[in-house]
Amino acid sequence: MKFVDLDAQFKVVEPEIRAALDRVLQHTQFIMGPEVGALERQLGEYCGARHVLTAASGSDALLMALMAYDVGPGDGIIAPPFTFVATAEMVALLGATTVFVDVEENSFNLDVNLLEEAIRKIQDRGRVNLKGIIPVDLFGLPARHDEIQAIAERNGLFVISDAAQSFGAEYRGRKAGVFGDIAITSFFPAKPLGCYGDGGAVFTASDELAEKIESIRIHGKGDSQYENIRIGVTGRMDTIQAAVLGCKLEIFEGELDRRQEIAGYYSEQLDEHVAVPAVPDDSRSAWAAYTIRTPRRDQVRAQLQRENIPFAVYYPSPLHRQPAFADALWGGEDMAVSDRLSREVISLPIHPYLADRDQDRIIEGVIRGVG
Ligand SMILES: Cc1ncc(COP(=O)(O)O)c(C=O)c1O
Repeated sequence: MKFVDLDAQFKVVEPEIRAALDRVLQHTQFIMGPEVGALERQLGEYCGARHVLTAASGSDALLMALMAYDVGPGDGIIAPPFTFVATAEMVALLGATTVFVDVEENSFNLDVNLLEEAIRKIQDRGRVNLKGIIPVDLFGLPARHDEIQAIAERNGLFVISDAAQSFGAEYRGRKAGVFGDIAITSFFPAKPLGCYGDGGAVFTASDELAEKIESIRIHGKGDSQYENIRIGVTGRMDTIQAAVLGCKLEIFEGELDRRQEIAGYYSEQLDEHVAVPAVPDDSRSAWAAYTIRTPRRDQVRAQLQRENIPFAVYYPSPLHRQPAFADALWGGEDMAVSDRLSREVISLPIHPYLADRDQDRIIEGVIRGVG
C-alpha cells in the first residue's frame, strides 16, 4: 500500500504520456514549447479562469503573484500559520512580513471571524503596510472565499488564493483557480493533479496582472526577450511537464470522483471514532489529503506504523512556531487552534487507486489506534 500511488496511475495513462513525451523529444522546444500554451488553454477551460500562466512550481507561482503587486519590505500579508511553508515563505523572500491569522478547527482554513479584527489591530499598530491576504484551501477544501473577498474589498487589500492543494475543488458552483484577484496552484507530483517534477500555475481575470506576470515569468521581459522592463525570475514551466499534465488532465475528473468516494467511505466508517473532515454543502474538496483529528493522534500514528500503513502528519509544527518566522506578526493574541491541530491531525492515504481492502485495513488500524 502506498500513500500516493503514481505507478498505478502511470499504468492508466502510459501510452498517452509516452507518445506526448516522444513528440517533445522530436520537436525539442523544451522551453515554452507548444504544449505549454495548449495546457494553459486546457486549464482555463477546466476551471473557468480568464488567464492561465503555467509556472515552474507552486512556490514560483506565488512569488510571481506577490511580485505582480510589488510586495516588498515594509508590507504585511495575512496568511494562516497552519499551512505548507511556501505560503508564508514567498512573502518573506520578498522582504515583506507575514501576519498570521489563526484557522478554523473544522475546515483547517483561515477563520473569517478573526480576520477583520486582525486587520484593524495590525493597521492600528502601524508597523507594516497591510497589502493583501493569502487564504489557503488546505487539504483541498476551498476557504470561505466570498466572505474573505468582501472583507478584503472593504479594507483595500488584494487576495491571492493559494489553491496549491485544491485544483479541481469547487465552492458555490465555481472551481478553484477563479477565487481572489489572483489564484495559484501546484502540480507537485503528489498533488491531486501532479506532473513528473515541479510545476504550478497562476490564474487571474485581470488583463493587467496577467501581462505583468507574463513579464515577471521570463526575467521581466518587455516586448522582446532581451528588453528588461522590471526584475523578474525564471518562473516558467518546462514543456515536458506541460505534456505530462495535458495527458493527466484527461483522467482528472474520474480521479476526483474516486477520491470523493473514498473520503465518503472513510467518513462514514470513522465518524464515531475521530473528528472526520467537514465539507460544507456549498463546497467540493479535491481531497489532496484526508485529515482526521483526535487527541489520541500519537497512539493512532504508532498503531499505523506497527501495521505498516502509510500516513502523514500535515503539519507537525505550525509556521508561527518555526524559527524562520520569528519576525512574523500575529493578528491575534494566540494561534491556539493551529497549535492544537498540529498535535491532533493525521492524514490517511486517499489516492484514486486505493483498493477497497486497503481502505478497510486503514480504517481498522485507525480504530485500533484510538483504542
Ligand atoms: C499550500 C501550499 N502552498 C504552496 C505550495 C508550493 O507548491 P510547490 O511545492 O509546487 O512549490 C504547496 C506545495 O506543497 C502547498 O501545499
